[in-house]
Order: sequence, then structure tokens, then C-alpha cells
Amino acid sequence: MATFPVTRLRRFRRTGALRSLVRETRLDLGDFVYPMFVSPGAGVDEPLAGLPGIARLSVDTLVEEASRLHGLGVNAVLLFGIPEEKDDVGSGAYDEDGIVQQAVRALRGATPSLVLLTDVCLCEYTSHGHCGLVEDGEVANDLSLELLARTALSHAEAGADVVCPSDMMDGRIGAVRGALDGEGFDQVPIVAYSAKYASAFYGPFREVADSAPAFGDRRSYQLDPPNVREALRECELDLEEGADALMIKPALPYLDVIAAARASFDAPVFAYNVSGEYAMVKAAAQAGWLDERQAALEALTSIKRAGADVIISYWTRELAAWL
Ligand code: PBG
Repeated sequence: MATFPVTRLRRFRRTGALRSLVRETRLDLGDFVYPMFVSPGAGVDEPLAGLPGIARLSVDTLVEEASRLHGLGVNAVLLFGIPEEKDDVGSGAYDEDGIVQQAVRALRGATPSLVLLTDVCLCEYTSHGHCGLVEDGEVANDLSLELLARTALSHAEAGADVVCPSDMMDGRIGAVRGALDGEGFDQVPIVAYSAKYASAFYGPFREVADSAPAFGDRRSYQLDPPNVREALRECELDLEEGADALMIKPALPYLDVIAAARASFDAPVFAYNVSGEYAMVKAAAQAGWLDERQAALEALTSIKRAGADVIISYWTRELAAWL
């Protein structure tokens, strides 16, 4: 290979058109999923301090906003519910008239072509804030599986296109697949949050969902941040149990995990650019320390470059204007 001065890598960087021609990674709105928070009531549009630009909506305002975004080219939304009441066993999660189930039914009717993904977990619905049932002060894995499977099934019955278990219990993908198939939902894919780390970057989300654990933390079920081989084992097991796609979460501190999952598996890889990753850039931009649009596009591009096929991002709404 020729070297300098025959080779000059700056040649293709000289103009915007030349750079565009040789660009290796592009963002496409079709690859993005917009997370939305639905809460009880009517006419609710409550801005969230920790997630600037994102609001808690009631079913009616959610339908309006989702229709508007779908009209702008947004393909998919991921729904989170904030129930009126929480209890020990997270009843609101699998209530056929629960908040997510109501939202899914309403959206199914209003925006039939919008892809509806649902987060399957108990933490927003349990009074103790853990993702499973608590027994003797510990999160009980096997007892939680049935409730998680019921939750996923109730979402599918309401009309969800895709269910996304995010609880990190062992064996949940098999349990969810079994429940769905048993009731005729063999066409509903599962996106497994296979590599969900015990991360500090969920801070703003937990405030929004009021889902911070009342005691202890989530380290006994979410992945330990230093581990990547263990993440790949989680991915492998989830695929064996029937996962249709894998999710890595958070995204930016775990780009190596995204790249490793991409290299190891042929299933679609999702990455969740979580609340804290978004809030950091928003806060720095508000202080005038960086340009939000440029920083956001650079961060999201890095997630694609690492190997993600699909990105879940709070910037999806802005991307509809930026791209
Ligand atoms: C759990 C769940 C969490 C997020 C999505 N699903 C939080 C947690 O584990 O505490 C975080 C998303 C974000 O921070 O944007 N159901």
C-alpha cells in the first residue's frame, strides 16, 4: 500500500459531498424507537424535570402525540406504564385493564401501522420497586416468572406487536414464549433485554416511573457493569429460550458489549440509549457547554457504528426533524 505523499486520506474529507459519499454509518428514522410514558387520567401532559422534552401522558394525549409522530415518520414506540396504585405483587402490570393495556388498545385502533413495543417488567407496579416478587427480603426468581409471563400475555392480548422483558430474571424468555404460544400469540416477537446492566444511568427514568427500589438495589439480577462475557452468555441463553432479538442497555457506556453481541449473534441487536445518557447531554446543552443536536447525532451514530440495528432513544422525536 502506498503511503504519504501518494496516499492522502484528507482527499475524501475535503467537502461535505465527498464525506457523505464515503460515510460508513447513517442514521435512519426507521431504526428508532421512541419511549413513551402513560399514566391514568385525561388531558395529562406533564413535563418531566429529569427528562427535558419528555412528558407523562394520559391515554388520550398519548394517542394524539403518537399519531403526530407517526405522521412525521416515527415507526415504533416503546410503552411504559405508571399505574395509579402499586402493590406487593405488581397487579397493575398484568391487569387486562391496566394502564399499558388501555394505551395499547387505544393506539392499536388509532395508529394501526405504528409498531407498538411494550416493556414487560414489574418494577413500575410493585410497592417495593423491584422487578420481581420479593420473598424473605430477596427477589424470588422462579415465583416471578409466572407474573412476567402473564404481563407479556396481557400486552399481546391488548394488541402489542412486540414484547420486551426487562426484568433480568433467569428463564423469563422461555416463560414468556410459552405463555404467548399457549394462547395463540406465536407471531408476537420477543426483544429480550438480555444485557441489562445495574447502571447509574437509569436515574431520571426511576424518578419518572417512581420505580427506585425501596430497599437494596438491582445488582442481584441486573448485570455487573465490568462483565462482557457474562452478557454474551445471557444473550445466548435468551436466544435458546426463544428471543427474537437482543437488547443491550444502557448503550454508550456499553458500546463494546454491543459490538461483541453483533459479532457473536445474527439476531437483530437493539440498544437502549437510556434516560441518564439523554439527560447528561440535555443538561450540558442547557448550560451552553455543547451543541445538543451535534452531540446527540454523534452519540447515536456511535451506537449504530458499534453494531446496533435498532436504537431506543428519547431523541427520536427530535430526530424526525433533524434527519
Ligand atoms: C425496568 C426498566 C428500567 C428502564 C427501562 N425499563 C429501569 C430500571 O431498571 O430501573 C430504564 C430506562 C431509562 O433509563 O431510560 N422496567
